[in-house]
Amino acid sequence: MELDQRTRDSVAAYDAHARAYQESFRLRRPVADVRRFADLATRGDLVLDAGCGPANDLRLLRDAGVHPVGVDLAYGALREARMLLPRHPLVQAPLHDLPFRPRSFGGLWCSGGLDHLPRAAWRSTMAGLLDLVASGPIYLSCHRGTEDLVQIEDDVLGTVHVSCATEEEIEALLGSHGVRDLSVEVRPHPIHDRRRPLVVALGILRR
Ligand SMILES: C[S@@+](CC[C@H](N)C(=O)[O-])C[C@H]1O[C@@H](n2cnc3c(N)ncnc32)[C@H](O)[C@@H]1O
Repeated sequence: MELDQRTRDSVAAYDAHARAYQESFRLRRPVADVRRFADLATRGDLVLDAGCGPANDLRLLRDAGVHPVGVDLAYGALREARMLLPRHPLVQAPLHDLPFRPRSFGGLWCSGGLDHLPRAAWRSTMAGLLDLVASGPIYLSCHRGTEDLVQIEDDVLGTVHVSCATEEEIEALLGSHGVRDLSVEVRPHPIHDRRRPLVVALGILRR
């Protein structure tokens, strides 16, 4: 799959502004979601953090008792992550072509990881990510709406392109891939509040 130029440009923004992005979100993490996710995982299991950025959640996941492997395409984001987590598994790769064997992980954490892909790529990308999970908790958050790579001027990142989904679409996306016991909620964005609400989903994949 060729990445859309708008996806590449958005990734380049994380590359260039990784530290500022990390700092802007550092104290605004979904801590309760991390706990719920870890409670559904088997303690000590490897879990995949898809689109981990500059390690915003990797430490929280680790402290909650799982072993996260962070993947992202933005080298600058991984460099920041490396400073926070000197001995942590971090992989630079595109989400649709990750260098892992099927069913290697005991869970998938994907906080905003699909945000910069065209909506048409979400289904196949999520199918590929779920193939990497043997069983375990599945977490996905994204912007709520129906826009497809709409241009946004972000205070920290500059120009990025963002895709959105509705709660019904996320329920259908995850449900059709066998994710069960799904809870799907709409939440205010931690920075933009109700102007850019998020859809947050947590469920379990059982094989
Ligand atoms: C909205 S940020 C989320 C970062 C972090 N998970 C968080 O919650 O703050 C999206 C991240 O996904 C990465 N990303 C976007 N498209 C990607 C792709 N196709 N392959 C790998 N990483 C990608 C970006 O570089 C960025 O770090």
